[in-house]
Amino acid sequence: MTYELLDLLHQEHLKVKSTLDQLKMATHGSPQQKEELFNNLKRDLTPHFRGEEQFLYPALQQKVESRQDALESFEEHHAAKLVLNELDTTPIGEERWAAKVSVLKDMVDHHFKEEEDKIFEDARKYLTEDQMRDIMQNYQSEKSQMGRS
Ligand SMILES: [Fe+2]
Repeated sequence: MTYELLDLLHQEHLKVKSTLDQLKMATHGSPQQKEELFNNLKRDLTPHFRGEEQFLYPALQQKVESRQDALESFEEHHAAKLVLNELDTTPIGEERWAAKVSVLKDMVDHHFKEEEDKIFEDARKYLTEDQMRDIMQNYQSEKSQMGRS
């Protein structure tokens, strides 16, 4: 059984967590620094969410045993994206911007933990090696297409 997909997702989680840590620490930093970190966050998190939503969660949704976990993960992405969009439209120098970063960090930390505890476990249990390989291929090609657009 290959776990390449889960290794990749884990690495992406670490990267996003590190950017969110830096962003939270930089809330009193310069606007340029915050802007750059926020752009890094969007660049990494948006395709990650999208790839999981398009390929991993639908596969898990089809299995009775993992359906509920997949549905919850969809909703956690939805909630995190709402805050991410609000950050986009809130002026970066406002106190509310920093408060929203802090809320987003808590949401994403919680989501990644649940995902690694439940979704990864579901994938190991209920998806076949072929399914995992297909998801990995689709995930990577979607990401590279998004990178070019
Ligand atoms: Fe996720």
